[in-house]
Amino acid sequence: MLLDRPTEVIGVASGKGGVGKTTLSVNLAVALAGLGHKVLLFDADLGLANAQLSLGVRPPYNFSHVLAGTKTLSEIIVRSPQGVMLVPGASGVQKMASIGAQEVGQIVAAFSELDADVDYLIVDAAAGIAESVMLLMAATQRRYIVVRDEPSSIADAYGAIKVLTRDYGLDQLYLVPNMVASQAAGRQLYSRINDVCGRFLGKTLHYLHSIEADEQILNSQRHHRSVLEHAPSSAAARDFRLLAEATRALDPIDGPSGALQFFMERLCGPR
Ligand SMILES: Nc1ncnc2c1ncn2[C@@H]1O[C@H](COP(=O)(O)OP(=O)(O)OP(=O)(O)O)[C@@H](O)[C@H]1O
Ligand SMILES: [Mg+2]
Repeated sequence: MLLDRPTEVIGVASGKGGVGKTTLSVNLAVALAGLGHKVLLFDADLGLANAQLSLGVRPPYNFSHVLAGTKTLSEIIVRSPQGVMLVPGASGVQKMASIGAQEVGQIVAAFSELDADVDYLIVDAAAGIAESVMLLMAATQRRYIVVRDEPSSIADAYGAIKVLTRDYGLDQLYLVPNMVASQAAGRQLYSRINDVCGRFLGKTLHYLHSIEADEQILNSQRHHRSVLEHAPSSAAARDFRLLAEATRALDPIDGPSGALQFFMERLCGPR
């Protein structure tokens, strides 16, 4: 990307499906746009509650056209009413989870060459720990791991963190507890998981803010809007704004080169 200041690339993963990756990606994108930033959201997921539905846009093309080589990345990008630029996900045609390392390499290259001024690129990944998901995460600078306080979500988040740190050598992992009863409960969940990661993986996770359980999230999705527009004074909207503020308060990471370089080395083999 052509930049005056470097783009911050944030990947959103969870291990387990259905714990709130798309909700977080969309609302964080809208909150950052609301703070005046240029945000590009990449829907790299094929879930039903996908990003375009939540943003209320109906893009004519999607990422399957880029994978097929019939459209360029900049040709498929649409602008949502909230001012977020969206790379629409490939719907149903081809599972992102099943694409290979070669294609992930093409994706990263396409984004690197994108001639757009972007402050934040948010990558809403598919559930699971498929190689394509992990490679995409490796190509980001920070990884937000969404987790709910339930055994299967915690186990799968830990599984994803284990692969990301041990097999891919990645750090900059941020745990984002979702659907928690309170900020105190979210922080406690973070502490529990962080302790286990410290003990068994020798890794420290970062923490910014939790997202409380809020029925306005489902309501907003029914109206194809972010919760920030639908219910700006709700607890969830407040939490996404605070998460966005905490995100932009982070020190910039020195360019994407570390992760990208690592990524290309994995793809092409060490030179
Ligand atoms: N903080 C919250 N409070 C209440 N409901 C929530 C919250 N976060 C997410 N949800 C609900 O949980 C469901 C799953 O969320 P979402 O689609 O964002 O998960 P996902 O991780 O992207 O799923 P997938 O793995 O299928 O892509 C949605 O119905 C959404 O409304
Ligand atoms: Mg999703």
